[in-house]
Amino acid sequence: MLRLNETYLGARVTSDEVARASAARADVLARCQAGEERHTGSLGWLHVDDWASDEKVEQVEALAARLREHADTFVLIGVGGSNNAARAALAALGARDGSLDGAHRVVYAGNTLSAFELRRVLEDLEGHEVVIDCVAKNFETLEPGSSFRLLRQWLVNRYGEKNAAARIVCCGTPGSHLEDLCREHGYAFTTFPEPVGGRYTALTEVHLLPLAFAGVDVRALVAGARAEEALLRDPATGPADNAAWRYALVRQLAWDAGLRMELLSFFEPRFRWFSKWYEQLFGESEGKDGRGLFPASAEYSEELHSLGQYVQDGTHQLMETFLDVMEPGEGDSLVLGDQDIDDRFGYLDGVDFWDINKASFAASRAAHAETLPCPTIELDRVDEEHLGRLFYFFMFSCYLSAELLGVNPFDQPGVEAYKQLMFKTLGK
Ligand code: PA5
Repeated sequence: MLRLNETYLGARVTSDEVARASAARADVLARCQAGEERHTGSLGWLHVDDWASDEKVEQVEALAARLREHADTFVLIGVGGSNNAARAALAALGARDGSLDGAHRVVYAGNTLSAFELRRVLEDLEGHEVVIDCVAKNFETLEPGSSFRLLRQWLVNRYGEKNAAARIVCCGTPGSHLEDLCREHGYAFTTFPEPVGGRYTALTEVHLLPLAFAGVDVRALVAGARAEEALLRDPATGPADNAAWRYALVRQLAWDAGLRMELLSFFEPRFRWFSKWYEQLFGESEGKDGRGLFPASAEYSEELHSLGQYVQDGTHQLMETFLDVMEPGEGDSLVLGDQDIDDRFGYLDGVDFWDINKASFAASRAAHAETLPCPTIELDRVDEEHLGRLFYFFMFSCYLSAELLGVNPFDQPGVEAYKQLMFKTLGK
C-alpha cells in the first residue's frame, strides 16, 4: 500500500488547514475523479485500462518476447516522458547496467545531443545483439529524431536492410510520419496514445514494452496502478483518506504560504531516476503562468552533506517530501560485524545498514521539519505493484495539484521558445 504521513508537516502547513482546504475545494477533487470534459483529449491515462487492458499487456509481452529472442540489448530512443518512466522503474527495481536478469538490458539514447555520450552508446553496442525502439509522439523532437537517424543507419550497416528491419520498433501516434516510415520499411509500430501526453505515459505501451523486454512483471505494475486508481478515483474513499488529494492540498497550501520549491528526498539511491520522472511530471505540468513549486530532488544520505545545509538553514522557501520504503526487501540487509581494529565506530557492531539508513532518515526528517513542511509518502515495498501505485499516485496528484493552482497540467507552452531559436539556427 501507499500512504501519506502528515506527522511532520510542521507549523507552516497544518493537517487542520489541509482539512479546511479540502472542504473548501471539494469540487476540484470531484471534477478530477470524474475527469473534466475540457481535458478529455489529455486524460487517456486517467483510466489505466484504457491503454493497459489485459489484451494490450498481452500484445506488449508477445512483442517483447519476440525481441528478446533476437537481442540482449534494447536501445530506448526517447526523451522526457518518452523514456523517464521505464528508466525510473528499472532503476528502482534494482537493474544493474540496465538489466534485471543479467541477460537483457535497456540502454538509452535520444535523450542527449552530446557527441561524447552518443559515441559511448555506439561503443557500448559492440559485441551485443541489438534492437532499437524510437519513441516519439509526433516525431518532431530533435533528440530522438537525431538518435534514431544515427542508430537506424548503424543497424542497417551492421545487419543489412532486411534483417535490420526486424530489429526496429517505433512508437508514435497513428497517422504520424513515423508510422508512414514503419509501413514503408516493415518496422514494427506500437501506439503512443494520442490522448496521453509524454509525462503521463508511464502505464502505457510506451514504457511497458522496454520494461517487458527487461523482464519486468508488467502485469503486476499495471495491477498496482489499477488498484491505486480504484482507491483514488472512488468518491467512496472520502477526501480525508485520499492520499493523492491530501498531498495536492499540502502542495497548494505550501504555495499559498509563500514556499516556492519542493524537494523529493529519498534514502534509497535506486529512486534517482524516479526523481527525474517526478521532476518532469510536476515541472512541465505546473511551471507556467508565473506559478508552480520548482520540483527538485535530494539523494540522501549523500546529499545531506551538500544540500542538507541549505535545506535546514537556507532560504525558507522549501517544502520537502520524503519517499520512504517501510519494509526491507531482498538485498536490503547488510549487518556490520565487529572489527579487529579500534576505528571508534564500535557503536555500529551488529547493526544493519537498513537500520542505520533509517536512523539517518528519521533524524533528517525531524530536523528539517523544524523549519519546513515534510510530508512523507510511505511505500510498503519496492516491487512492480508498488511502483505501479506510485506512478498513478503522482500522476493523479499532479492533475489535482495543477487544478488547485489554476494551471493547465497537460500543455507545455514554455518549451517552444528555445525550440524556435534552435531550429532557426539549425536551418530547419
Ligand atoms: O511530457 C511531454 O509531453 C514531453 O516532455 C515529451 O515527453 C517530450 O518532449 C518528448 O516528446 P516526443 O515524444 O514528442 O518526442
